[in-house]
Amino acid sequence: MIPESFVQEVLARVDIVDLIERHVPLKKGGANYSACCPFHNEKSPSFTVSPTKQFYHCFGCGAHGTAIGFLIEYAGVSFPDAIKELAQQVGLQVPEEERPDPARQAQSQSLLEITARAAKFYREQLKISPKAIDYLKSRGLTGEIAARYGIGYAPEGWQGLRSVFGEQYEQPALVEGGLVITNDTGRRYDRFRDRVMFPIHDQRGNIIGFGGRVLGQGEPKYLNSPETPLFEKGRELYGLHQARQSIRESNTVVVTEGYMDVVALAQFGFGAAVATLGTATTATHIQKLFRQAERVVFCFDGDKAGRKAARRALEASIEHLADDRAVRFLFLPAEHDPDSYIREEGLVAFQRALNEATPLTDFLLRELRGDLDLSTAEGRARLVFEAKDWVPRMSAPILRAQTVRSLADLAEMDVAEVERALGMEPGTKGRPAPRRLERQRVVTATRQLLRLLSARPELCLQVPDDIVLFLPDETEREVLQLLCERARSGAVISLTAMFESQSDAGLRNLIADLLTTADEEHVSEEDASEVLSDTLRALRLQAVKREIETLNKGGLNADEILKLKALFTQKKQLESGQKPPV
Ligand code: CTP
Ligand code: MN
Repeated sequence: MIPESFVQEVLARVDIVDLIERHVPLKKGGANYSACCPFHNEKSPSFTVSPTKQFYHCFGCGAHGTAIGFLIEYAGVSFPDAIKELAQQVGLQVPEEERPDPARQAQSQSLLEITARAAKFYREQLKISPKAIDYLKSRGLTGEIAARYGIGYAPEGWQGLRSVFGEQYEQPALVEGGLVITNDTGRRYDRFRDRVMFPIHDQRGNIIGFGGRVLGQGEPKYLNSPETPLFEKGRELYGLHQARQSIRESNTVVVTEGYMDVVALAQFGFGAAVATLGTATTATHIQKLFRQAERVVFCFDGDKAGRKAARRALEASIEHLADDRAVRFLFLPAEHDPDSYIREEGLVAFQRALNEATPLTDFLLRELRGDLDLSTAEGRARLVFEAKDWVPRMSAPILRAQTVRSLADLAEMDVAEVERALGMEPGTKGRPAPRRLERQRVVTATRQLLRLLSARPELCLQVPDDIVLFLPDETEREVLQLLCERARSGAVISLTAMFESQSDAGLRNLIADLLTTADEEHVSEEDASEVLSDTLRALRLQAVKREIETLNKGGLNADEILKLKALFTQKKQLESGQKPPV
């Protein structure tokens, strides 16, 4: 964990306008800057950046956040990496205990450097190796696409890299980086020899490993870098660095199995493809993919292995679905992989196939169904039995409800019966989706209070403690408490920092809403106190009305009648603008 105070310090020093400007051209208009939103497709700009609040907000798609959030969303980096990057930009050191130990850092620095030098060597070797060039040509690749993906060639011979590293060839780092192997007798030799080299980039464009293909036939067909301090297969996606722009433009990412698939798709004009690296799709991959695009399409080979890979991808996705994301599966004809398909059928056919790809729930139901005979009670029972391992784990509540309904239709059962059979509580729909507060247009008294306090923090000191009792919404209550605590402690925490310190989605949305709307409350300093007490009175009045309503519902005993009378008195006082008795 990076300490909260450090996050705040970074936010206090970074300029979000500077940061965003580097990636998205901004136009100044009034107090804010604007641009076409980088997170959704649009023709006229609804993305705004506020230099005073250090916050961005898109009125089109609702995207919002701090400099940290921007890096996470835009560059797809993790929270700690975003902090690290911003800290570096403003010359801050991530605090001692949190820093990876310096030896390790130095090591990965030099590993990056070594890997980059090797990649450069491989690229140069490709230029002077007619047989490697011929091989790539025979696979239909142009020089342009080879350059875009940094494809190279590792020459024949045992110690090709010695010409790059000289004395350093003996250094442990080359073994550590997976470029060199030591045999039993202690002699060293290059891991990659006589292979076409596909460098693997991380999202920032650093080369962190390689895949090497034999020219023509031979075993193993592909040889990959081992796991190193830089390279963890279950996290990385081949081609993501090059695909960023296309993914963003289409809001879609296509996941394939192979290096050649990615490269061939790019060559034929489809840039939004990535590949898992000779491993099954992991949950980490899924989360990374969902950060890039709303639509993820798995497009694996048409063979048996491809179908198995699709099942693994389904398994990895099921707990990370969201109702505003879509996962599909494209099953190619058995003889094809994406590479051969786009070559034979062309870009338009590939895109059409993508659009018609099987939605995740259809695939799931098809898998569950297998070859069960649904004309028998046994077959239908078995179907629901099989679903037990899958459906309750689906993380998107609306989608899960839809799936239960489809399952019920197939099984000829009621939805409630299926839910019970699956061990799901009938009626409850699992975790509630986070509320989309920014969509709420009516300004309630609570919201007005929160806006006022956000714009004029000093007013928090005039808010009586008991007011939280009058706020029915838990999120609003919590934010009010945060605002008041902040004012009492005299801390100079910006609302932006407060936003960043919360992990709960509801809280974050509400704070973001305040950040973007707080100055809609144009209240002058003189009027502020009065507006505050009006708002507080409105809140109490609402609470009293709610209580009256509740009491009026049932038959009343003597105590309750007394209480009701008192409430009516309070209501009258509040309505006539008097301060209520405390
Ligand atoms: N793979 C691997 N090691 C192997 C074979 C495959 O790591 N021995 C990984 C590679 O990442 C490869 C992917 O699995 O890109 C898919 O393998 P495969 O379908 O056999 O290869 P293709 O991508 O079709 O490659 P090519 O078209 O060059 O034959
Ligand atoms: Mn292939």
